[in-house]
Amino acid sequence: MQVIDMKSISPAGAARRFSVAPMMDWTTRDYRAFARTLTQRALLYTEMVTTGAILHGSPRERFLGYSEVEHPLALQLGGSDAGELAECAAIAEAWGYDEVNLNVGCPSDRVQNNLIGACLMGHPEKVAAAVKAMQAAVSIPVTVKCRIGIDDQDEDADLEHFIHQVADAGCDTFIVHARKAWLQGLSPKQNRDVPPLNYPRVQRLKQRHPELHIGINGGIKTLEACQAQLAQVDSVMVGREAYQNPWLLARVDSTFFGQADPASSRLAAAQAFRPYIQARLDEGAKLNHISRHLLGLFQGCPGGRRFRRHLSEHAHLEGAGLRIYDDALSLVREPQEAAAAVSIE
Ligand SMILES: Cc1cc2nc3c(=O)[nH]c(=O)nc-3n(C[C@H](O)[C@H](O)[C@H](O)COP(=O)(O)O)c2cc1C
Repeated sequence: MQVIDMKSISPAGAARRFSVAPMMDWTTRDYRAFARTLTQRALLYTEMVTTGAILHGSPRERFLGYSEVEHPLALQLGGSDAGELAECAAIAEAWGYDEVNLNVGCPSDRVQNNLIGACLMGHPEKVAAAVKAMQAAVSIPVTVKCRIGIDDQDEDADLEHFIHQVADAGCDTFIVHARKAWLQGLSPKQNRDVPPLNYPRVQRLKQRHPELHIGINGGIKTLEACQAQLAQVDSVMVGREAYQNPWLLARVDSTFFGQADPASSRLAAAQAFRPYIQARLDEGAKLNHISRHLLGLFQGCPGGRRFRRHLSEHAHLEGAGLRIYDDALSLVREPQEAAAAVSIE
């Protein structure tokens, strides 16, 4: 087991060894609350929220609301105007977020037109100014999530040029998606699969910058693969696998934090989530908006398909509540070995 690096003392810093990636429409507050039935310690990220939504959207609760169980929690911002980002960082701190993260990795056309996301890798001076202004506005950590490169800026030297300028402005934590983005011609989805992964580039970045926290992201699917990465870099961020196969999270606390895991089985996690679901239904949320995040929980278990089908067919109906949820759970069986309780030796 890895020794826990205690030099990071902020809640976000202490949790950063393992995080769940920001994912639009996926890492909603309901997903994050569900993830907490499986891991208390992983650092969770919101979906990207643009500065425009925070400053001009209404109500602000819609973009920033979360429940206390979600800590440690980082807000990911999309934007490039230093003043607006600083204002939003201050708002994030006031709302109780543990970290604010700047998105320098999203390749969508829509965000590029507003100079948001991966296109900012071509403007390190803008990112540096933004980070500086955000840090001056808050005392929580300000971090950057970026790619290893964009378009033809795809050499170690290009990444170094970017990191150097942003680190000089005061940023000491970078989470690097180990795959370049093609800003023209590939969809955001293709940009998560088509350009090849290049872990060694991120690992070399860490070797050159022992003073920086370098996290790695992209294509990591097992806790063993995370452990292997942690021998080379400071932290690991997992995206799609943590969403599509949430049971992956069930052993994060014991594996990376030396702490007992909260859920002894998938069913126990699903049961522990009931009070949260009821509270959200009472606030007017729809069951399917919450239960859609659990569709991958019983992957590979007998009845897993019936569980998914029951929720897909009934959870959207008017008045759907815990009865539908419980009926879906009654259709699934969890093999004993899959449910083995995990405790710390
Ligand atoms: C549905 C979806 C939405 C995403 N939204 C965001 C986002 O809002 N901000 C961001 O920085 N990355 C976003 N990403 C990229 C992920 O954070 C992550 O970098 C990428 O999926 C690679 O990691 P993985 O292979 O572990 O999934 C998104 C990915 C997916 C699949």
